[in-house]
Amino acid sequence: MKKFLNKTELSYHITSLKAKGLSVGFVPTMGALHNGHLSLVNKGLSQTDIIVVSIFVNPTQFDNQEDLVKYPRTLDADVELLKTVSDTTIIVYAPTVEDIYGDNIESQSFTFDGLEHEMEGAFRDGHFDGVGTIVKRLLEIVKPNYVYFGEKDFQQLQIIRKLVELNDIPVKIVGCSIHRAEDGLAMSSRNARLTPEHRTRAPFIYKTLKTAKTKFGTKSAQKVTEWVEVQFKKQPLLELEYFIIADTTTLKPVKRKSTKKTYRAFIAVYAGDIRLIDNIALK
Ligand code: PAF
Repeated sequence: MKKFLNKTELSYHITSLKAKGLSVGFVPTMGALHNGHLSLVNKGLSQTDIIVVSIFVNPTQFDNQEDLVKYPRTLDADVELLKTVSDTTIIVYAPTVEDIYGDNIESQSFTFDGLEHEMEGAFRDGHFDGVGTIVKRLLEIVKPNYVYFGEKDFQQLQIIRKLVELNDIPVKIVGCSIHRAEDGLAMSSRNARLTPEHRTRAPFIYKTLKTAKTKFGTKSAQKVTEWVEVQFKKQPLLELEYFIIADTTTLKPVKRKSTKKTYRAFIAVYAGDIRLIDNIALK
């Protein structure tokens, strides 16, 4: 498997592949790969000849330094896992912080038509400036035909659509459905850091989202939200940060339901020190 640590060498290699008429897909990751990432890679390989997987823990998108320090870094295991999918059609780009940021580890400041102020943006200061900065840079380096993102980070996906639109970046974005463990927990690199007790409790998040979806068929967003808040108060190991039913396009919380709009429920929960997010389409 080809592995690059340097953007110039990677770009050169990709240019030579494209000159041969090969199409390039891209899966940006922060590593600690799991089956959710592999499902994005497989989706990519069903649409393109070559998939570039970047593995880079991006410092500018962490609002919490402890989270950045503790974020799992497992490059060798990640490469081995990718080899189980393909040794020849996957390229790994694992840059250093310097390769991406030089000596200026700062994010650019973005506006994404207000999408950045909702939910994760409200709770994680500067997060989407960091995500916008790294994704824009990676897209400029890799120049893929397609780029793949999971819907677990649905707000991130919508923000990246906006980033690509506002900056006229020539790439097709593919949103991929959430990959879940058998018990329903959304796959995340953070799951590996859950204690056994928190791991046992964590599927409650998706179970609650599914019931909330049913309730939203007959009840208002406010009533459903109140119901969810009560359920989490009965869960000593899980602390609800937010549950919000929002318009899929604007990500603004629902005031009154309209049959012309589509909605999604979004949730963030602390399981001990580990922050988990999930979401579900409601209509
Ligand atoms: O979703 C992620 O893993 C990260 O936010 C991303 C898109 C790789 C940017 O660092």
